[in-house]
Parts: sequence; structure tokens; C-alpha cells
Amino acid sequence: MSFTLERGATLALVGESGSGKSMTCRSIIGLVPKPGEVIEGRVMFDGRDLLGSSRTELRKVRGGEIGMVFQDPTASLNPVYKVGNQIVEVLRIKRGMGTREATRRAIELLDRVGIASPATQFHSYPHEMSGGMRQRAMIASAIAAEPMLLIADEPTAALDVTVQAQILALLTELQQDTGMAMILVSHDFGVIAQHCDHVAVMYAGYIVEQAPVQEIFDHPSHPYTQALLASIPQLDPANRWEMVPVRGQPPELSKLAPGCPFSPRCEFVRDGCESVPMSLQEVGPDHVTACPFVTWRDRVATSPHLRDGQP
Ligand SMILES: Nc1ncnc2c1ncn2[C@@H]1O[C@H](COP(=O)(O)OP(=O)(O)O)[C@@H](O)[C@H]1O
Ligand SMILES: [Mg+2]
Repeated sequence: MSFTLERGATLALVGESGSGKSMTCRSIIGLVPKPGEVIEGRVMFDGRDLLGSSRTELRKVRGGEIGMVFQDPTASLNPVYKVGNQIVEVLRIKRGMGTREATRRAIELLDRVGIASPATQFHSYPHEMSGGMRQRAMIASAIAAEPMLLIADEPTAALDVTVQAQILALLTELQQDTGMAMILVSHDFGVIAQHCDHVAVMYAGYIVEQAPVQEIFDHPSHPYTQALLASIPQLDPANRWEMVPVRGQPPELSKLAPGCPFSPRCEFVRDGCESVPMSLQEVGPDHVTACPFVTWRDRVATSPHLRDGQP
């Protein structure tokens, strides 16, 4: 896979569970769990190759210039320390603040992420908070160092819809205030439409299609993207697609055959799919896809699910 993220921009990584989204996020910041490892490639961040950086350098970057929010806040909040003190630690280490200033700032941050009575909640342990509050506390900690890039791996997946919307709105607001870039992992196209500039669609560890958000919705080119979009339940009567689940199961990534990994599930499968290279070809402005055979026009021409028959 290969992608570029501009300062201040937001890239969505989307794909079914198991498509390698989390592993991509972890690779960027050197947190691939053992025995996994990154065997080749480059991760250029502000002119430096992170893959070539020492552990010490990476530890400095993590939680500093690059902030991270994971699906499960228990994984990044330490259960034995008060939430406020964990943020104070970030501010002391990454921003060089003294304890008093850091404490004041930590309370401000808790307030900023929408935690009521922040001065009181400062003294809570993670287990004393609700899921939504813990997630907010984790965001406060992730943005404490004012990162240039925030990697948010399904930051709201475990939360109810209202809290989810609040937290995503908060992230967008913070982004507008600070100009940080964001990689947002999500399988919710509604979220993506609202919060992202670009989308990279992942399948079996590859990016199979990448384009600006509106372009992905208007002209989904790769059969997998088309299938994903068609699988979303939608209430909008003007919507052109009927809901059709993606058939079959995603492959196990350790047992990938050569060629296109989506071909066993693809309704457009043909001779040649078993040997096609997974390289991205341009199909439109700023729009690349890994499938050399199918475009959005093919989908429009063949889909029985298209309601108005018009592209
Ligand atoms: N690039 C890769 N090469 C080999 N295996 C991978 C790769 N990316 C992911 N995997 C395997 O697939 C599993 C699921 O990946 P993950 O990143 O957790 O998917 P997602 O976050 O999209 O659900 C991982 O646990 C790992 O075993
Ligand atoms: Mg994941």
C-alpha cells in the first residue's frame, strides 16, 4: 500500500474487518505486535523515515507529533493511574511543562473533550468512567501534545450513536483549531462522508481504490468498493443502490494466492484476475484503482440494483 496525507487533511481507511486497517496504523508508528513485523517500505513523516528511526526516536514521536486513539481505551489508559495524571505526564514529557501548568492544561483538555466537572473527573480512575467518558479522556491524552497527525482507529466503534457523533464532531473541531492531519479508520460511510477528504478502501492488506470522498460515492470503480457501498442500509429514497450484502468472506492474509484477492467474491471475475498485479491505476482526477477490468460504468450497466438506471 502507498498513500500520502497532506497537512491538515483527513484520510479515511475503510474496509471489512480483517482487511488490515489497524495493522496499517500500527505500522506507521512502529507498534506492530510480535511476531508481526514490517519487512519493507518507508513511512515518511515530515521529511523523516519513521521505519528507519530508532525505538527511542519512535517513542518520542508517538504521543508527541503523532497522537493515537484506539477502539479500546483500556488499551491506552493505564488502569492504575488517575486519568488527569496520565494527561499531566504527557504534557510534562512531550511539552516540557511543569506540574502546575500541566495540571491546569489537563483540566482544560478534559473540559475541551466534553467531560463535565473536569476538575473532579481529573481524579477519576479509568474504571470509574463510562465508556464514552474514557474515550473522551483518551482523546484528551492523544491531543495533549498537539500532534501534527492523529491516528484514530475506529475511535467510536464501541460507543452508542449519539456519543459517536459527539466525539467525531469534536475531532473535526480540534482539527480545524490545530490544523492536525488525521487518519480515521471507520467502516461507516456516513462518518466518512462527513469527516474525511480522501478515502482509501482496503482489502486483504491492499489499498484497492483511493479517491476524494465525493468521487468514491459518485464513481466507485473497484468492484469491492461498489459492493461495500451497496451493502450499506440506507433510508434515503433517492439513493440509487438497493442493499446487497457483500457475498462470501474476506481471505486469511497469511494464505493469499497471487492475483486479485477479491476475485473469489467478485461478481465481475474473469480470466486474468488470478494474475493481475495489485498496483493502482488512475481512472479519474486524483482517483486510483487496482482493478484494470471494471469501472463504475460497468456497475451501472450491469447492476439490477440500480433504481433509476442512470449513472
Ligand atoms: N500487511 C499484512 N500482511 C500480513 N498480514 C496482515 C497484514 N495486515 C493485516 N494482517 C493480518 O490480518 C489480521 C487483521 O488485520 P487488522 O489490521 O487487524 O484488520 P482490521 O483492522 O481491518 O480489522 C491481522 O491480525 C494480521 O494477522
Ligand atoms: Mg481494526
